[in-house]
Amino acid sequence: MNVFKNKIDLNLYIDTLKSQNRTLGFVATMGALHQGHASLINLGLNQNDVVVVSVFVNPTQFDNEEDLVKYPRTLESDVNLLAMISEEKIIVYAPSVEDIYGTNIVSTSFSYDGLEHEMEGRFRAGHFDGVGTIVKRLFEIIRPDKAYFGEKDFQQLMIIKKLVEKYNIPVEVIGCEIYRAKDGLAMSSRNSRLKPAYRKAAPFIFKTLNTAKEKFGTNSATKVSEWVTNQFAKNDILELEYFIIANSSTLKTVKRKINQKSYRAFIAVYADDIRLIDNIALN
Ligand code: PAF
Repeated sequence: MNVFKNKIDLNLYIDTLKSQNRTLGFVATMGALHQGHASLINLGLNQNDVVVVSVFVNPTQFDNEEDLVKYPRTLESDVNLLAMISEEKIIVYAPSVEDIYGTNIVSTSFSYDGLEHEMEGRFRAGHFDGVGTIVKRLFEIIRPDKAYFGEKDFQQLMIIKKLVEKYNIPVEVIGCEIYRAKDGLAMSSRNSRLKPAYRKAAPFIFKTLNTAKEKFGTNSATKVSEWVTNQFAKNDILELEYFIIANSSTLKTVKRKINQKSYRAFIAVYADDIRLIDNIALN
Protein backbone atom coordinates (compact mmCIF):
# COMPACT_ATOMS: atom_id res chain seq x y z
CA MET A 1 0.00 0.00 0.00
CA ASN A 2 1.40 3.40 -0.98
CA VAL A 3 1.12 5.81 1.94
CA PHE A 4 2.31 9.35 1.17
CA LYS A 5 3.06 11.77 3.96
CA ASN A 6 3.96 14.74 1.79
CA LYS A 7 2.43 16.37 -1.25
CA ILE A 8 5.62 16.54 -3.31
CA ASP A 9 6.02 12.75 -3.41
CA LEU A 10 2.29 12.28 -3.93
CA ASN A 11 2.28 14.78 -6.79
CA LEU A 12 5.08 12.96 -8.60
CA TYR A 13 3.21 9.68 -8.23
CA ILE A 14 -0.01 11.24 -9.50
CA ASP A 15 1.88 12.76 -12.47
CA THR A 16 2.92 9.23 -13.42
CA LEU A 17 -0.65 7.89 -13.11
CA LYS A 18 -1.96 10.77 -15.22
CA SER A 19 0.70 10.19 -17.88
CA GLN A 20 -0.62 6.61 -18.10
CA ASN A 21 -4.18 7.96 -18.55
CA ARG A 22 -5.32 6.27 -15.36
CA THR A 23 -8.51 7.67 -13.85
CA LEU A 24 -8.44 8.89 -10.26
CA GLY A 25 -11.19 8.72 -7.68
CA PHE A 26 -10.85 10.57 -4.39
CA VAL A 27 -12.33 10.07 -0.93
CA ALA A 28 -11.48 12.77 1.62
CA THR A 29 -11.57 11.59 5.23
CA MET A 30 -10.45 12.61 8.68
CA GLY A 31 -9.58 8.98 9.43
CA ALA A 32 -11.09 6.58 12.00
CA LEU A 33 -12.39 4.83 8.92
CA HIS A 34 -15.61 2.81 9.06
CA GLN A 35 -17.97 1.00 6.69
CA GLY A 36 -19.43 4.31 5.53
CA HIS A 37 -16.00 5.33 4.20
CA ALA A 38 -15.53 1.83 2.78
CA SER A 39 -18.75 2.19 0.78
CA LEU A 40 -17.50 5.45 -0.79
CA ILE A 41 -14.12 3.88 -1.54
CA ASN A 42 -15.71 0.79 -3.11
CA LEU A 43 -17.85 2.95 -5.36
CA GLY A 44 -14.68 4.89 -6.28
CA LEU A 45 -12.87 1.65 -7.10
CA ASN A 46 -15.74 0.57 -9.37
CA GLN A 47 -15.63 3.82 -11.30
CA ASN A 48 -11.88 4.62 -11.43
CA ASP A 49 -8.51 2.92 -11.93
CA VAL A 50 -7.11 4.20 -8.65
CA VAL A 51 -8.63 5.79 -5.52
CA VAL A 52 -6.75 8.28 -3.36
CA VAL A 53 -7.92 8.35 0.27
CA SER A 54 -6.78 11.35 2.29
CA VAL A 55 -6.56 10.95 6.06
CA PHE A 56 -6.23 14.33 7.69
CA VAL A 57 -7.87 15.83 10.76
CA ASN A 58 -8.28 19.35 9.47
CA PRO A 59 -7.78 21.83 12.34
CA THR A 60 -9.40 24.81 10.61
CA GLN A 61 -12.86 23.23 10.40
CA PHE A 62 -13.20 22.68 14.17
CA ASP A 63 -14.95 25.40 16.15
CA ASN A 64 -14.29 23.52 19.37
CA GLU A 65 -10.71 22.87 20.52
CA GLU A 66 -11.72 19.89 22.70
CA ASP A 67 -13.47 18.20 19.75
CA LEU A 68 -10.28 18.64 17.68
CA VAL A 69 -8.05 17.23 20.42
CA LYS A 70 -10.34 14.27 21.08
CA TYR A 71 -11.04 13.46 17.44
CA PRO A 72 -9.93 9.81 16.95
CA ARG A 73 -6.59 9.38 15.17
CA THR A 74 -6.06 5.77 14.09
CA LEU A 75 -3.83 5.86 11.01
CA GLU A 76 -2.38 2.38 11.47
CA SER A 77 -5.74 0.62 11.64
CA ASP A 78 -7.05 2.88 8.86
CA VAL A 79 -4.22 1.73 6.57
CA ASN A 80 -4.89 -1.91 7.52
CA LEU A 81 -8.57 -1.54 6.67
CA LEU A 82 -7.70 0.07 3.33
CA ALA A 83 -5.21 -2.69 2.55
CA MET A 84 -8.00 -5.22 3.06
CA ILE A 85 -10.11 -3.39 0.47
CA SER A 86 -7.30 -3.10 -2.10
CA GLU A 87 -3.52 -2.94 -1.61
CA GLU A 88 -2.84 -2.06 -5.26
CA LYS A 89 -5.60 0.33 -6.24
CA ILE A 90 -5.74 2.56 -3.14
CA ILE A 91 -3.25 5.31 -2.38
CA VAL A 92 -3.24 6.97 1.02
CA TYR A 93 -2.33 10.60 1.57
CA ALA A 94 -1.85 11.23 5.29
CA PRO A 95 -0.14 14.63 5.49
CA SER A 96 1.03 16.56 8.53
CA VAL A 97 -0.63 19.86 9.35
CA GLU A 98 2.54 21.55 8.09
CA ASP A 99 2.39 19.79 4.72
CA ILE A 100 -1.06 21.29 4.16
CA TYR A 101 -0.81 24.66 5.88
CA GLY A 102 2.90 25.43 6.30
CA THR A 103 3.14 27.58 9.42
CA ASN A 104 -0.04 29.54 8.72
CA ILE A 105 -2.93 27.43 9.99
CA VAL A 106 -5.82 29.59 8.83
CA SER A 107 -8.74 29.13 6.50
CA THR A 108 -9.74 31.16 3.47
CA SER A 109 -13.13 32.84 3.63
CA PHE A 110 -15.64 31.48 1.10
CA SER A 111 -19.08 32.46 -0.07
CA TYR A 112 -21.27 29.57 -1.12
CA ASP A 113 -24.25 31.68 -2.17
CA GLY A 114 -25.82 31.52 1.28
CA LEU A 115 -25.61 27.74 1.82
CA GLU A 116 -23.00 28.42 4.50
CA HIS A 117 -25.38 30.48 6.65
CA GLU A 118 -27.80 27.63 7.38
CA MET A 119 -27.71 24.85 10.01
CA GLU A 120 -24.11 23.72 10.58
CA GLY A 121 -22.92 27.14 9.41
CA ARG A 122 -25.03 28.78 12.11
CA PHE A 123 -24.01 26.43 14.89
CA ARG A 124 -20.32 25.95 13.98
CA ALA A 125 -18.67 29.29 13.29
CA GLY A 126 -16.10 29.15 10.49
CA HIS A 127 -16.68 25.43 9.88
CA PHE A 128 -17.38 25.69 6.15
CA ASP A 129 -14.45 28.05 5.55
CA GLY A 130 -12.26 25.31 7.01
CA VAL A 131 -13.93 22.60 4.92
CA GLY A 132 -13.65 24.70 1.73
CA THR A 133 -9.99 25.45 2.43
CA ILE A 134 -8.97 21.83 2.92
CA VAL A 135 -11.13 20.33 0.16
CA LYS A 136 -9.96 22.91 -2.42
CA ARG A 137 -6.34 22.29 -1.42
CA LEU A 138 -6.78 18.51 -1.63
CA PHE A 139 -8.44 18.81 -5.05
CA GLU A 140 -5.46 20.90 -6.22
CA ILE A 141 -2.94 18.39 -4.91
CA ILE A 142 -4.74 15.18 -5.96
CA ARG A 143 -6.42 16.37 -9.18
CA PRO A 144 -9.08 13.62 -9.11
CA ASP A 145 -11.55 12.89 -11.90
CA LYS A 146 -14.30 12.00 -9.44
CA ALA A 147 -14.69 12.72 -5.72
CA TYR A 148 -17.09 10.95 -3.36
CA PHE A 149 -18.79 12.53 -0.34
CA GLY A 150 -21.43 11.06 1.96
CA GLU A 151 -24.92 12.50 2.28
CA LYS A 152 -24.67 12.31 6.08
CA ASP A 153 -22.97 15.69 5.71
CA PHE A 154 -25.56 16.81 3.17
CA GLN A 155 -24.85 20.51 3.65
CA GLN A 156 -21.12 19.87 3.22
CA LEU A 157 -21.84 17.95 0.00
CA MET A 158 -23.87 20.87 -1.39
CA ILE A 159 -21.16 23.32 -0.37
CA ILE A 160 -18.43 21.27 -2.04
CA LYS A 161 -20.51 21.13 -5.25
CA LYS A 162 -20.84 24.91 -5.05
CA LEU A 163 -17.08 25.31 -4.46
CA VAL A 164 -16.32 23.21 -7.55
CA GLU A 165 -18.78 25.23 -9.63
CA LYS A 166 -17.48 28.60 -8.42
CA TYR A 167 -13.79 27.80 -8.90
CA ASN A 168 -14.27 25.71 -12.06
CA ILE A 169 -12.47 22.79 -10.49
CA PRO A 170 -12.41 19.93 -13.03
CA VAL A 171 -13.82 17.19 -10.80
CA GLU A 172 -17.16 15.41 -10.70
CA VAL A 173 -18.55 15.44 -7.15
CA ILE A 174 -20.63 12.38 -6.38
CA GLY A 175 -22.96 12.24 -3.38
CA CYS A 176 -23.38 8.84 -1.75
CA GLU A 177 -26.25 7.58 0.37
CA ILE A 178 -25.89 7.54 4.15
CA TYR A 179 -24.46 4.28 5.41
CA ARG A 180 -26.19 3.15 8.59
CA ALA A 181 -25.53 0.61 11.31
CA LYS A 182 -28.16 -2.15 11.55
CA ASP A 183 -30.00 -0.17 14.25
CA GLY A 184 -30.17 2.90 12.00
CA LEU A 185 -27.42 5.08 13.47
CA ALA A 186 -25.62 6.93 10.67
CA MET A 187 -21.99 5.84 10.49
CA SER A 188 -19.58 8.47 11.77
CA SER A 189 -16.03 8.46 13.06
CA ARG A 190 -17.37 10.11 16.18
CA ASN A 191 -19.52 7.03 16.98
CA SER A 192 -16.39 5.24 18.19
CA ARG A 193 -16.22 7.72 21.08
CA LEU A 194 -19.79 7.06 22.31
CA LYS A 195 -20.00 5.45 25.74
CA PRO A 196 -22.24 2.32 25.73
CA ALA A 197 -25.36 4.01 27.17
CA TYR A 198 -25.12 6.79 24.58
CA ARG A 199 -24.45 4.36 21.73
CA LYS A 200 -27.53 2.40 22.81
CA ALA A 201 -29.65 5.56 22.87
CA ALA A 202 -28.37 7.02 19.58
CA PRO A 203 -30.63 5.09 17.11
CA PHE A 204 -33.47 7.21 18.53
CA ILE A 205 -32.21 9.94 16.19
CA PHE A 206 -32.97 8.03 12.99
CA LYS A 207 -36.16 6.57 14.43
CA THR A 208 -37.39 10.10 15.15
CA LEU A 209 -36.38 11.28 11.67
CA ASN A 210 -38.40 8.45 10.13
CA THR A 211 -41.52 9.31 12.13
CA ALA A 212 -41.01 12.99 11.33
CA LYS A 213 -41.00 12.02 7.64
CA GLU A 214 -44.30 10.18 8.06
CA LYS A 215 -45.83 13.12 9.92
CA PHE A 216 -44.63 15.60 7.28
CA GLY A 217 -47.03 13.95 4.81
CA THR A 218 -50.04 15.41 6.63
CA ASN A 219 -48.64 18.08 8.98
CA SER A 220 -46.94 21.44 8.59
CA ALA A 221 -43.17 21.79 9.07
CA THR A 222 -43.83 23.75 12.28
CA LYS A 223 -46.02 20.99 13.72
CA VAL A 224 -43.45 18.32 12.87
CA SER A 225 -40.64 20.40 14.39
CA GLU A 226 -42.66 20.86 17.59
CA TRP A 227 -43.29 17.12 17.76
CA VAL A 228 -39.55 16.35 17.37
CA THR A 229 -38.61 18.93 20.02
CA ASN A 230 -41.08 17.27 22.42
CA GLN A 231 -39.69 13.81 21.75
CA PHE A 232 -36.20 14.97 22.67
CA ALA A 233 -37.45 16.88 25.71
CA LYS A 234 -38.69 13.50 27.01
CA ASN A 235 -35.35 11.81 26.27
CA ASP A 236 -32.96 11.94 29.28
CA ILE A 237 -29.86 10.91 27.37
CA LEU A 238 -29.84 12.79 24.07
CA GLU A 239 -29.95 16.56 23.79
CA LEU A 240 -31.39 18.16 20.66
CA GLU A 241 -29.38 21.04 19.25
CA TYR A 242 -31.53 21.64 16.19
CA PHE A 243 -34.16 20.04 14.01
CA ILE A 244 -34.86 21.86 10.78
CA ILE A 245 -36.96 21.08 7.74
CA ALA A 246 -35.38 22.78 4.78
CA ASN A 247 -35.64 23.09 1.04
CA SER A 248 -33.23 20.45 -0.35
CA SER A 249 -31.68 22.87 -2.88
CA THR A 250 -31.43 26.16 -0.99
CA LEU A 251 -31.23 24.64 2.52
CA LYS A 252 -33.47 27.46 3.69
CA THR A 253 -35.87 26.54 6.51
CA VAL A 254 -39.31 25.84 5.09
CA LYS A 255 -42.04 28.25 6.11
CA ARG A 256 -44.88 26.96 3.96
CA LYS A 257 -44.88 23.59 2.23
CA ILE A 258 -45.20 23.68 -1.57
CA ASN A 259 -46.00 20.31 -3.15
CA GLN A 260 -43.57 20.52 -6.07
CA LYS A 261 -40.55 21.38 -3.86
CA SER A 262 -38.19 18.82 -2.38
CA TYR A 263 -37.58 18.92 1.37
CA ARG A 264 -35.16 17.36 3.81
CA ALA A 265 -35.07 17.21 7.60
CA PHE A 266 -31.76 17.92 9.34
CA ILE A 267 -30.88 17.19 12.93
CA ALA A 268 -27.97 17.75 15.31
CA VAL A 269 -27.94 16.04 18.69
CA TYR A 270 -25.54 15.87 21.61
CA ALA A 271 -24.89 12.44 23.11
CA ASP A 272 -22.86 13.50 26.14
CA ASP A 273 -20.16 15.74 24.61
CA ILE A 274 -20.35 14.06 21.21
CA ARG A 275 -22.23 15.84 18.49
CA LEU A 276 -24.10 13.65 16.01
CA ILE A 277 -25.79 14.84 12.83
CA ASP A 278 -28.18 13.10 10.47
CA ASN A 279 -30.75 13.93 7.81
CA ILE A 280 -33.51 12.38 5.75
CA ALA A 281 -35.25 13.15 2.45
CA LEU A 282 -38.91 13.92 3.17
CA ASN A 283 -40.41 13.65 -0.29
O1 PAF B 1 -16.41 15.00 6.05
C1 PAF B 1 -15.25 15.01 6.51
O2 PAF B 1 -14.74 14.04 7.05
C2 PAF B 1 -14.43 16.28 6.40
O3 PAF B 1 -15.22 17.40 6.54
C3 PAF B 1 -13.59 16.35 5.10
C4 PAF B 1 -14.48 16.40 3.86
C5 PAF B 1 -12.68 15.16 5.03
C6 PAF B 1 -12.73 17.62 5.10
O4 PAF B 1 -11.84 17.63 6.17
